[in-house]
Amino acid sequence: MIIKKADIETIAVKPQQYPEGNLKEIAFAGRSNVGKSSLLNLLTKRRNLARVSGNPGKTRTINFYLINDEFRIVDLPGYGYAKVSKSVSQNWGDMMEMYLAGRENLVKVVQLVDIRHAPSKQDVEMYEYLKYYGLDGLVVATKADKISRNQTMKHIKIIRQTLKLSSEDKVIPVSALKKTGYQELLDELESVLGE
Ligand code: GTP
Ligand code: MG
Repeated sequence: MIIKKADIETIAVKPQQYPEGNLKEIAFAGRSNVGKSSLLNLLTKRRNLARVSGNPGKTRTINFYLINDEFRIVDLPGYGYAKVSKSVSQNWGDMMEMYLAGRENLVKVVQLVDIRHAPSKQDVEMYEYLKYYGLDGLVVATKADKISRNQTMKHIKIIRQTLKLSSEDKVIPVSALKKTGYQELLDELESVLGE
């Protein structure tokens, strides 16, 4: 797949604000700062389509991007950001739950984890949740430039074991900095959308 066109369509915090119509959606989930917004920019080759920041908690809303006028990529707010207050994290939970559990257009969630570390407890919980809703099976290991290439397989193995992935589940190492891994991910997205 080649992405020729990508535009922000809607920013939402509740279902009434989600875009209408029956286009399929693929969402990006993962802890704050893992690189969800950076991955969207990489895939779309648009440097500033989604806002990226070194400060975790940059994306606080559900952002819908229309791709090639054919489907949507949905950039979700990250979890595990310690500085937010209880009421904010409650809102975050409600917002995520309503989208992940209730959105009919949603066909797959790409779970992002940092390639350097074993997935956290929250990563494992998120993946279990995705499994429950049948949205699992595609994991992206971000920031692949931060480890040496001969360490990649070892780190991917740890990710597979910690998330208890099955042999059909995919883990794709990606670097937004070096611009690697995205073609493999685009091919996966194409096959998900074709199903
Ligand atoms: P929230 O919106 O807070 O949930 O974060 P996010 O997951 O959208 O992360 P974002 O894309 O904003 O990136 C967070 C930080 O990680 C930024 O400083 C990025 O430049 C950096 N980053 C993202 N991807 C990569 C990568 O592949 N390699 C390296 N070295 N840094 C990256
Ligand atoms: Mg973000």
